[in-house]
Amino acid sequence: MKINGVHYRTVWMEKTVVKMINQAVLPHFFRIEEFKTHQETARAITDMIVRGAGAIGATAGYGMAQVVLEAPDTSAFLDAVAAGAQTLTRTRPTAQNLFYAIDRVSVAAKAARTVPEARASAVQAAEQIAEEDLSSCASIGCHGASLLKDGARVLTHCNAGWLAFVDWGSALAPVYTAVREGKRVFVYADETRPWNQGSRLTSFELGNEGVSHAIVTDNASGFLMQRGQVDIVIVGADRIAANGDVANKIGTYEKAVVAHELGIPFYVAAPTSTIDRNCPNGDAIPIEERAEDEVLYCRGLLDSGEFGRVRLAPPGARACNLAFDVTPARYITGIITQKGVFAPGEILQAVS
Ligand code: MRU
Repeated sequence: MKINGVHYRTVWMEKTVVKMINQAVLPHFFRIEEFKTHQETARAITDMIVRGAGAIGATAGYGMAQVVLEAPDTSAFLDAVAAGAQTLTRTRPTAQNLFYAIDRVSVAAKAARTVPEARASAVQAAEQIAEEDLSSCASIGCHGASLLKDGARVLTHCNAGWLAFVDWGSALAPVYTAVREGKRVFVYADETRPWNQGSRLTSFELGNEGVSHAIVTDNASGFLMQRGQVDIVIVGADRIAANGDVANKIGTYEKAVVAHELGIPFYVAAPTSTIDRNCPNGDAIPIEERAEDEVLYCRGLLDSGEFGRVRLAPPGARACNLAFDVTPARYITGIITQKGVFAPGEILQAVS
């Protein structure tokens, strides 16, 4: 990704410090934040400084490396590693990449014979997760670009671009690849209340990449599809169950139902690290419920030039803030992975 011509990754680690782009204040402020301990890194995940399944996974991998680096060189080492893993596990419940990364770094550390070896293995595993995230997303871009014809009009929901991963993204990688191949692509970006990942982050990315696009309200995309203004829908995934059901940002389900009703292809793009082979179907996916204030208020740039929030709802109003929903496999045309495009019911072939 390039922001104002400078190459960045969404998250990275320097020595023992995890660094990341602060996604909570984009696009109004561009800030790189530093997190010195695994507790601070865990807090960054919970507070949405970093968000998006792939980026959450890479961050959790680095956070787990911090856990291993911080653990005492005594008989308490393994207990400290387990406690740190618990802290990171409790941050966000839905994105499978979080659990994939915590587990992979923990396994690498525990397989080592000495504590210094465990520390080196943990850092190495975390770096590998980030590198694989990047290369998988680049491959998803190549596989997905072949689904986009010249002049394609794409609808996407939330942000599944470079900011949701280490780089490239999942749902937006096919768009970026197709545009680099010389195809004309137009993107409709759902604004995605309450965090507005679409109007803040997807629009920011598409603008930086020079991709023509329009932000639409979450309620508009069904009508756009009905009017024949959408050729294909591509979204990301936070967790894919063994039967091909997909958890993604709240609102994805209704886009899939409308696309199915109208015969518009509906694709999910995700690396295989998002597949949870132990989860039989969508009913078993834990769905995060976040704070009511995220719905009752809207956050953004105030006329004063400061970042702040304004209250939308009347005093005393309550809100229900489900962060994700589940799209049944029957509404999904195909799942684009780094290994190719799979029918949802055959998704386990991608991890066999
Ligand atoms: O709450 P968020 O912003 O972490 O949710 C992100 C999404 O739902 C994305 O669409 C999803 O992670 C797929 S892209 C990695």
